[in-house]
Amino acid sequence: MNAQPAAVAVPEPPLAVLLELTHRCPLACPYCSNPLQLVGLRQELDTAQWQRVLEQAAELGVLQAHFSGGEPTLRKDLADLLRHARAHGLYCNLITSGVGVTRERLQELQRAGLDHLQLSLQDSRADGADRIAGYAGAHARKLALARWCGELELPLTLNAVIHRHNAERVGEMIELAVELGAGRLEVAHTQYYGWGLRNRAALLPTRAQFDAASAAVAAARERLRGRLTIDYVTPDYYARRPKPCMGGWGRRFVNITPEGKVLPCHAAETIDGLQFDSVLERGLGEIWRDSDAFNRYRGTAWMPDPCRGCEHRERDWGGCRCQALALSGRADTLDPVCEKSPDHAGLRALAERESQAPAPEFVYRRPGR
Ligand code: FES
Repeated sequence: MNAQPAAVAVPEPPLAVLLELTHRCPLACPYCSNPLQLVGLRQELDTAQWQRVLEQAAELGVLQAHFSGGEPTLRKDLADLLRHARAHGLYCNLITSGVGVTRERLQELQRAGLDHLQLSLQDSRADGADRIAGYAGAHARKLALARWCGELELPLTLNAVIHRHNAERVGEMIELAVELGAGRLEVAHTQYYGWGLRNRAALLPTRAQFDAASAAVAAARERLRGRLTIDYVTPDYYARRPKPCMGGWGRRFVNITPEGKVLPCHAAETIDGLQFDSVLERGLGEIWRDSDAFNRYRGTAWMPDPCRGCEHRERDWGGCRCQALALSGRADTLDPVCEKSPDHAGLRALAERESQAPAPEFVYRRPGR
């Protein structure tokens, strides 16, 4: 007999809020996670509006503020926002490409309250990294920023996005993270939504590449225990069980777009028919508790069969809604990454086929250029 679904009536406060301060970015990555429709400079929230959001986040019980983008350091008021977040007791993390950040700016941000920096790493080698970023010299700037973090004793995480053009160098990326003094390295296979989905055929690794990358991570974890923490995000297309996307819809995270729309995940706007509230019209706490977008797939009551009777339902929370939509055509159906989905076998066949065909050229993301 199926177990009763456990709906979440009054949600716990979110752990973290991700502030997409801007969609402007110097890089042009083919797996960009920002939405297809970007928000322009003139629509961005101003300093006072973001400060109000930070106050409301702290009132709601949020612990961490992640300052992200696009490239968040393009905002001239970033230090003011960090100062404000810190004054309200929030742990401050900056998610950056590192391009355009000087040592003096980094020091200014640290003085303002920056606790931790997350730096994207495109490859272990400059030619591969700059090719993916679509920006000559980006890799060298990232290395410089990482070294300044070490000198300033600012905790550093590196985020390496893996795909068929760099999967063989996972081992080298791990060595680079050690050399740069990072405390944590996230090795994450590319997620295929939005712009990434457009470039899937150019990026999807083969099964053999995936296996080799997984083996390199497993060996390094053992060897570097106590020196470097390695998080590993496997590629959905070769998985048998779905990931608990965002830790479950409306459970742990809030995403706020540059113009103030509040989303359960960065890709939620791909789902037609969801109503997204704005921080310009409602308080963040009210949106978190009551908004249609957050309640639609929160908990387990919305789940179709067989998810609602599945023993994993409160571990994977039904997987990823945006991926279900992108691959199966509906957001309220099974994530096809799950082997119980009728679309799972088709997904595996697609992955085999696409990853072994010659890679097409990248479609770079070059907003406004
Ligand atoms: Fe939207 Fe996974 S990216 S639910």
